[in-house]
Amino acid sequence: MTQLFDTYGKEYRDVVQASIDFSGLSYEFVTVAKADIMREVIAARLGPEAKPSALDVGCGIGVLHRYIRDSFARLCAVDVSTACLEQAARANSGVEYRAYTGAELPFATGEFDFAYAICVLHHVPPADWLGFMREMARVIRPGGVLCIIEHNPLNPLTQLSVRRCEFDRDAVLLPAWRTAGLMVQAGLKMVDSRYFLLMPSAAAPARAIERGLARLPFGAQYIAYGTV
Ligand SMILES: C[S@@+](CC[C@H](N)C(=O)[O-])C[C@H]1O[C@@H](n2cnc3c(N)ncnc32)[C@H](O)[C@@H]1O
Repeated sequence: MTQLFDTYGKEYRDVVQASIDFSGLSYEFVTVAKADIMREVIAARLGPEAKPSALDVGCGIGVLHRYIRDSFARLCAVDVSTACLEQAARANSGVEYRAYTGAELPFATGEFDFAYAICVLHHVPPADWLGFMREMARVIRPGGVLCIIEHNPLNPLTQLSVRRCEFDRDAVLLPAWRTAGLMVQAGLKMVDSRYFLLMPSAAAPARAIERGLARLPFGAQYIAYGTV
């Protein structure tokens, strides 16, 4: 079956960049911020020296992988778009890419320490959200961590970028409380979330301000996470 993102394999990066051009941010800046905040969550939940085995669900063209591959002992990645996976595999080495249908993940129960999905859930039909979360939780070992990064629908600039993004036509945005609620329903413990991408700078003072405001729904995106 042809997937929406098969069409965007080649232009994926340009389409995303065009949708956020008005903010002055680069796609690279946003991607690095996501890698950094995931590392913070891993350090907080799995220990500062942790180098977990990880699964990226809905990896797209694997833009994040060059920034985060070295933080993991093993990195596997799946997507429903084979065109995206082919591009990801050409761009990155040391990542195990696999296609799947969007239903059952092709991995054993408890195979990973950490699994994450970035900007994927808003493309999944709402009726499938809980099943998607439960399936991610299934492949994480007890004590491991599930992490979701999503657009913050309470941020008007995020809403604008979603309206400008061609492949977000089908998007149903979830507020952080909804994602956290799904995690609780999926049986995750110590569920928490925080907002980020508030400041257009990665300098230490900007990051400190962002951390101070992380509980307020100002950031363009949020990270929600829970322990299996
Ligand atoms: C906006 S892109 C995000 C890609 C990547 N996570 C990133 O942040 O660059 C959404 C991705 O989710 C994938 N996708 C959509 N539904 C999915 C599902 N049910 N399971 C896994 N991936 C899915 C799409 O094919 C697409 O590659």
